[in-house]
Amino acid sequence: MTTPAVIPEISVPPSPYQVPQAFSLVIFGASGDLTRRKLFPALYALAHDNLLPERFAVIGFARREKSHEAFREEIRVAVDEFSRFRPVQPEVWERLARGIYYVSAAFEDPAGYAALGKQLAEVEARYGTCGNRMYYLATPPTSYTTVVGQLGAAGLVSAPWPELSGTDWPCWSRVIIEKPFGHDLATAVALNAEIHKTFHETQVYRIDHYLGKETVQNILTFRFGNSIFEPLWNRRYVDHVQLLVAEHIGVEGRGGYYDAAGALRDMVQNHMLQLLSLVAMEPPATFDAEAVRDEKVKVLRAIRPPAAARVGEVTVRGQYVRGALRGARVPAYADEPRVAEDTTTETFAAIRLEVDNWRWAGVPFYLRTGKALPKQVTEVTIQYRRPPLRLFEHAPHPGHRLGDEVEPNRLTLRIQPDEGISLRVGLKPPGPRISLVPAHLGFVYRDTFGVDPAEAYERLLLDCMLGDSTLFIRRDEVETAWGLVNPILQAWQEAGREGLAYYPAGSWGPTEADRFIQGDGRAWVNP
Ligand SMILES: NC(=O)c1ccc[n+]([C@@H]2O[C@H](COP(=O)([O-])OP(=O)(O)OC[C@H]3O[C@@H](n4cnc5c(N)ncnc54)[C@H](OP(=O)(O)O)[C@@H]3O)[C@@H](O)[C@H]2O)c1
Repeated sequence: MTTPAVIPEISVPPSPYQVPQAFSLVIFGASGDLTRRKLFPALYALAHDNLLPERFAVIGFARREKSHEAFREEIRVAVDEFSRFRPVQPEVWERLARGIYYVSAAFEDPAGYAALGKQLAEVEARYGTCGNRMYYLATPPTSYTTVVGQLGAAGLVSAPWPELSGTDWPCWSRVIIEKPFGHDLATAVALNAEIHKTFHETQVYRIDHYLGKETVQNILTFRFGNSIFEPLWNRRYVDHVQLLVAEHIGVEGRGGYYDAAGALRDMVQNHMLQLLSLVAMEPPATFDAEAVRDEKVKVLRAIRPPAAARVGEVTVRGQYVRGALRGARVPAYADEPRVAEDTTTETFAAIRLEVDNWRWAGVPFYLRTGKALPKQVTEVTIQYRRPPLRLFEHAPHPGHRLGDEVEPNRLTLRIQPDEGISLRVGLKPPGPRISLVPAHLGFVYRDTFGVDPAEAYERLLLDCMLGDSTLFIRRDEVETAWGLVNPILQAWQEAGREGLAYYPAGSWGPTEADRFIQGDGRAWVNP
């Protein structure tokens, strides 16, 4: 397809890790927020860590006209502002910047793809990127099918077989697609069908940035790289599991997007069901992409979607009203800009799901997410059953109430912030009596490794460059997850305002949510 030609004059220092083959990256939506805040800072970090190949180029594609030079300058400013490696090192920036180009056109315009083809041919000849192409759709979701269809029509996508047969074929094409992947089950199925007209499933990388987080991957290493926890990871020992994604921010100017989405689409369908499947999956036979994703999708298939009549029993939805957070007043969600005055969109959701398989039957999984909550935190809590006998007195400690039972063991996987893992156990406090107080055994990522975890986009971009789709969502996962939330979406939409509970901004959600879990004899774990 191309002739490797001019070898770049700056060589990349050796890396102890696998470095991708030469390739070109095309970013659609190259002037957008995601590109500025996440994608280029991640590319810079990969260049900083010598993880980019020597022969590499990036072409930005967006509507506004600008020169290659102006685009490079814009990106330099973004990297300066958002990179985790600051100040930016001139020699690393130079290595990245010399391969950055820009094509301006509307996504709908075939002439833009002809110009892109020309630019690709030019950089492929110049940098010897061998016709390997990675397309990143950082575009509004309404443009996904347009861009993919136009790429196919312009002949810019190679056949999928290189992915299937290893590296014997001369070049590969891959596409990364951002969330939201569909608006409901029907639109997700239709979107997949459209994408598959141009790309084979092995070429499609659906991104969920949660899976790029170090501590999310740590769920797998913790579970399957240690022998002491896995035997306790089942219905015999676990009482229930809680997954919490709490945001202290409100909608922050994204009212237009959020009002059409809501918490269920924004958090539960993707990030939370992904977390759940990692926590609940069986050990895969190998750690390759298909084996891991086979096990994840089995978990989703083992969850029965609630019948329409039961949605009210297994869910609580809420919306925040005026309140205060960290001393600042927060307006009601309905008063946010670009939110409909009579909005019934949920900003809080609590859901009880059951994974009907041999490992988990009878163990509830509580998913809870909300905006304008007191803290910004994502964590998974595995609560164990209480000891069968009460041999020891329960010593007074902060938060203890007279008559409290022995506190059950709890394993907390903190995804963000202060990434780490902690295990709550009962221990004897100093003194002459044998009694119990809760104490924590813990691992804090930063203390142990002395660095902050890498940004999720760094890992995910690198994996796609290497052709490893383990941490990307497969078609059947997306559709099964939509199948689970679809009945809830429909029931909530039909109920309108009925059943919508309100909570003041700055609280942990509506009191209905507390009653919901208390009805099961349990309580929320608030960090
Ligand atoms: N921002 C985030 O942190 C974030 C996080 C997760 C997922 N996402 C997803 O990532 C995608 C991009 O989000 P974003 O926040 O970066 O969006 P954005 O800031 O609105 O950027 C959209 C980009 O698309 C371009 N564009 C839009 N319509 C076009 C058209 N018809 N022809 C040519 N170019 C067009 C814009 O170019 P011009 O400026 O030249 O018009 C701009 O570069 C979305 O699917 C979003 O859901 C974003």
